[in-house]
This record gives sequence, C-alpha cells and structure tokens, in this order.
Amino acid sequence: DFIKEVSGFSVLEQQLKEILHVDHVIVVPGNSDELDWVKQEMGKASVNYLKTILKANQTIAVTGGTSMAAVAEVMLPLDQASNCMFVPARGGLGERMENQANTICAEMAKKANGQYRLLHVPDPLSEESYQMIIGEPSVGEILELIRDAHVVIHGIGDALTMAQRRKTSLDNTKKIINGHAVSEAFGYYFDKDGKVVHKVRTVGLQLEDLHQSKCVIAVAGGESKAKAIYSYFKQGKSNVLITDEGAANKLARDI
Ligand code: BG6
Repeated sequence: DFIKEVSGFSVLEQQLKEILHVDHVIVVPGNSDELDWVKQEMGKASVNYLKTILKANQTIAVTGGTSMAAVAEVMLPLDQASNCMFVPARGGLGERMENQANTICAEMAKKANGQYRLLHVPDPLSEESYQMIIGEPSVGEILELIRDAHVVIHGIGDALTMAQRRKTSLDNTKKIINGHAVSEAFGYYFDKDGKVVHKVRTVGLQLEDLHQSKCVIAVAGGESKAKAIYSYFKQGKSNVLITDEGAANKLARDI
C-alpha cells in the first residue's frame, strides 16, 4: 500500500480535493494538451469510476466535447448496472457532430449495453421556438429523464475556446468577453468567481438541477484548462473531478 501511495498521485489528488472543495479526485499521468492518449486514460478512469457507482436502471446524462468523446471511445459493458439509460445533458450547443452530446450518448449506450434517448433540438433557439419545443410532450418526456438523472458526466472548457468552437454570435461573444468568462460547462459560461456570465439558450439540464442527490462527474485535463477547472469549481456543483497530471500540477502550484 505504501508503494501504491508514493507511486500514484494520492498526494496531488488530496491537494486538489482541498483546493477545489470536491469529494473525490482522480489524476491520470500525462498532459492531454500534449498527448492525445492522455484523454483516453481519463476516459478509462471515468469508465472505472462509473462502474463503481452505477446501479441497475439508472439514468446518466452526458455532455458533448472531446473529453466525453474519449470516455465513449473506451466505454465497456456495465454489467453490474444493467438497463442503464444514457441521455444528452442539454440540446444542441453548436458543436460539430462528433462532439455532440447526442452522438456521444448513443455510442456510450451501445458499448455499455444500455439504452439511450436523444434530444433533437436545433440551435441556436429563439425564445419563441424554445417555449414551443419544451411544450412538446415527446420532448417533455426526455427532459424529465434528464432532470432526474442519477449521474451526470460532463466536460469543462476554457470559455473563449468554447465560444469560438461553437461559432458564438458577436453579441454573445461580447457578453462572454466583457463578463470575463474563464470556464464553460453545459453551455454555461462562468467568471473566475464561478458566477454565470452567459448561458446558451437550449433545453435540458439547468445548473439548478445539479443538486445534492446526484453524482456529478467532471472530466477535464490539460495544463491549459487549469484556470477553467478552478473557476468552474467555484460554484461547486460537481462532486468528482477526473483530470490529468498537466492540469493537476498547474492547479496545485500556480493557483
Ligand atoms: C462541451 C460540453 O460539449 O464540451 C461542455 O457541453 C464542455 O460541458 C466542453 O465544457 C469541453 O470540451 P472538450 O473538448 O474540451 O472536452
């Protein structure tokens, strides 16, 4: 056990728990900014963690992004959690197909031997269409599944990187810049104190839905994401962080 303690990242994990006020932290070796396979290692750690917490018939809400795509890539049958249901956390956020929550959620379900339901909502949504779509019974049914999800697994992005990747409108980009947004998750943009400065209008999981009774797992790594991770955890809605050495070292040293 002693060998395991010194060879692993338990000291770093403990430090991060204190810095971020989070219940559980897993650090994998490497820096995903530099090496692509490090994301897959975070993916494997995520799958292992899911195996320890998921029970039969539970619902898992997943976001989009390359980190979640890596989790889907290495997903394995979740035998002890039979008949699990995967749903996208939120509707369209302007991501390309392979990074969309719908795509990722279907792949995860297939590999986990689970079920899935998708949300087909165009983005960006006008207020009028938004109201109309949430009024649709078929959408309402999925939204209920999402709201009641037992486990939420999501990425955390750097605010400006995400705004650019999503081809955000000029007005909203200004809002994000002027609000000094640092991080992004679920289509919400947060400043350094964790305050929401902008929110993409789409259906699905709202920040208020992330309450105590859920297990909310953030998967984010790379030295370049350290500031974003710190900012996101300021509002303390997630209880687990799965990250890499690159982000963890930066968080422990510089923030
Ligand atoms: C988005 C998620 O799709 O991906 C966000 O909705 C997350 O929650 C972002 O911040 C992160 O993307 P990546 O590619 O850095 O994992």
